[in-house]
Amino acid sequence: MRQTLFAQHFGKPSNASLAYYLTAMHGYASARKALSEMTPDQVIEEVKKSNLRGRGGAGFPTGMKWGFIPKQSEKQKYLVCNADESEPGTCKDRQILTYTPHLLIEGLLIGSYAIGCKHAYVYIRGEYTHEAKVFQKAVDEAYEKGFLGKNIFGSPYSLDITLHRGAGAYICGEETALLNSLEGKRGEPRVKPPFPAQSGAFGGPTAVNNVESIANVPFIISMGGEPFAKLGKLDKSGGTRLISLSGHVKKPGVYEIQAGELTLRQIIDDLGGGILNDRKLKAVIPGGSSAPVLTAEEVDVVYDIEPLMKIGTMMGSAAIMVVSEDADLVKLLLRITKFYAHESCGQCTPCREGCQWMESLLHKIVHGHGSTDDLNLLVDVAQNIGGKTLCALGDAAAGPVISFVKKFRPEFEEYIKGAKHHA
Ligand SMILES: Cc1cc2nc3c(=O)[nH]c(=O)nc-3n(C[C@H](O)[C@H](O)[C@H](O)COP(=O)(O)O)c2cc1C
Repeated sequence: MRQTLFAQHFGKPSNASLAYYLTAMHGYASARKALSEMTPDQVIEEVKKSNLRGRGGAGFPTGMKWGFIPKQSEKQKYLVCNADESEPGTCKDRQILTYTPHLLIEGLLIGSYAIGCKHAYVYIRGEYTHEAKVFQKAVDEAYEKGFLGKNIFGSPYSLDITLHRGAGAYICGEETALLNSLEGKRGEPRVKPPFPAQSGAFGGPTAVNNVESIANVPFIISMGGEPFAKLGKLDKSGGTRLISLSGHVKKPGVYEIQAGELTLRQIIDDLGGGILNDRKLKAVIPGGSSAPVLTAEEVDVVYDIEPLMKIGTMMGSAAIMVVSEDADLVKLLLRITKFYAHESCGQCTPCREGCQWMESLLHKIVHGHGSTDDLNLLVDVAQNIGGKTLCALGDAAAGPVISFVKKFRPEFEEYIKGAKHHA
């Protein structure tokens, strides 16, 4: 039987209340346990044992990240929650914010205690108006009950949480751009090093973590790190995964599986109900729009971080976009590239210029004016962006272009031959 941690609580707006959290989810028992029975180091050890890996995209081990925060620091330390959820296809964090906001607050409480942070921030994307309201209400409830503020549970530990609303920019999901935006500056990525663990928010040591990463922490403390790790079927990845399944499936939605439990094909067929209108599968983008595309022949891969990396793509934010045989992949790539060109902050030349050039070349091809030279130039431009920018937005834009052309070149050539014109 599949074990889920979150999914059974999703779907009912009233589950966001503190009353529900306290009665149905043993709310705040883990935080109480951490603050009264565990040292900060013991909390970090437990999170390390859990094999919790970041749910924001890079899959970095959360316990290790928290371990990088210096124990002694003259400056304030910060835990900053990344609720920007801006990678196209991704819509899982909003479920947590909407239906289990107290889980995130409790995770922030435990994580902040672990790294010695007295003021945590949640940076939420501007478009999440409803989610921001629900979350703020939960924060207010937690303050009223004394779960936030001074001397929590009668301990010497105090914590404040501030919700900060973004203005709707994809780049502000990148952790250092997020920190700049939080500080009231332009949302542009910072030069690294120094990394946020050394100098992050307001110059203090900072851990930036995704909503789902932090919301898992109360479960780790209540069940123990090892049992949490064992929920994952593969060695290096613990717990469950929230998956945003979209595109040409019969039942799109947010699903929860145990990490490494299913193959991509099983997710599409068993959870998604198969391909819409019983058409054939053509392609799958397995980890948000920046993940290199997979062909229909590649979907027997186990859906987890390592197996996907082995076949040259990534799990990213676990947003699976399914594409049926009816879709035009050249137009799809143009749409994706347009997004990155629009969202590039413009700070790094390869990304600013390269994304515009990729969009222009694809536009030319789609409109029936492209040549083989243009197609080759498109790939060349993409290959000269990756790894040459301050942040991974450049790689995010280049990866789809390189993989789409490599795996589906005949579709591009068809346009070039003039077989397909202005649609
Ligand atoms: C362009 C760009 C956009 C990103 N957007 C998000 C986002 O919306 N949400 C998120 O959690 N991480 C996002 N990330 C990843 C963050 O930089 C960072 O790795 C993450 O918040 C760390 O949290 P985790 O270790 O818990 O995954 C983005 C990265 C890049 C390069």
